[in-house]
Amino acid sequence: MTAERAGAVLEVRDVHVSYGQIQAVRGVSLTVPSGSLVTLIGANGAGKSSTLAAICGLVRAKRGQVLVDGEDVTRWRSHRLVEAGVVQVPEGREILATLTIEENLQLGAWHQGRHLAEGLADVFGRFPVLADRRRLPAGTLSGGEQQMLAIGRALLARPRILLMDEPSMGLAPMLVDEVFGVIERIRAEGTTVLLVEQNAHRALQAADHGYVMETGEVILEGPASELLANERVVEAYLGEAFHEPDPAVSDGGGRFPDAAPPRC
Ligand SMILES: Nc1ncnc2c1ncn2[C@@H]1O[C@H](COP(=O)(O)OP(=O)(O)OP(=O)(O)O)[C@@H](O)[C@H]1O
Ligand SMILES: [Mg+2]
Repeated sequence: MTAERAGAVLEVRDVHVSYGQIQAVRGVSLTVPSGSLVTLIGANGAGKSSTLAAICGLVRAKRGQVLVDGEDVTRWRSHRLVEAGVVQVPEGREILATLTIEENLQLGAWHQGRHLAEGLADVFGRFPVLADRRRLPAGTLSGGEQQMLAIGRALLARPRILLMDEPSMGLAPMLVDEVFGVIERIRAEGTTVLLVEQNAHRALQAADHGYVMETGEVILEGPASELLANERVVEAYLGEAFHEPDPAVSDGGGRFPDAAPPRC
């Protein structure tokens, strides 16, 4: 075991995911060292969410292994991973619109009720807009506020590693800044983060290390600062040729309905 691997919270080894004939993930390997912010970037359909789904046991990896703190968790279910501190902020947020903001947050703490009051105070301190409207249905929040709620709900599960699936999707530039600020703060406080993003530029600016996925495979990886300067990355993801996708095109959350929030 190398020194880096010894300190890895999460390690994905040669994971394959298929949906019938579609090979969505073809031999992805990645390592997330403790305390780091690692990003997985790639265009629509590259297999990013499917990689997270395999990590979380929401789809069965056809091949490969997922390790958390060196322990093989490949066959673990999502709720067990949450208990182990592996928590996802899912694509599309999966907010329960008719429940109040506070009820959505309470869901985050289902497995550790004794920390609920403290956790709620922490989240309301971070996101005052949620505190002010805690008794309103979550469906009344704007997209950016719902993203804060999804992050808050995940924080209530007291994650050791947070898996975030396109948290900036569909948000206005000012809110994108705010979301990245939140992510950087969470990381600075010691939580390890695996950040899936299509906003490659912002993600690489925030990250220590990056992986680039194309059609189910990692085609490039390296220190984020190197990827930011890499010709292939600039051309494909950072240059003028790359346009932000229309958020309406993404199939969003809810595709892995097997687990209720908070889920891995
Ligand atoms: N439940 C599913 N059933 C069948 N095909 C699926 C399913 N989920 C994903 N796919 C397919 O697998 C491939 C990878 O999809 P995935 O959602 O993992 O990509 P992604 O990188 O997260 O894309 P996006 O940026 O649009 O969210 C795509 O071709 C997609 O259409
Ligand atoms: Mg996705």
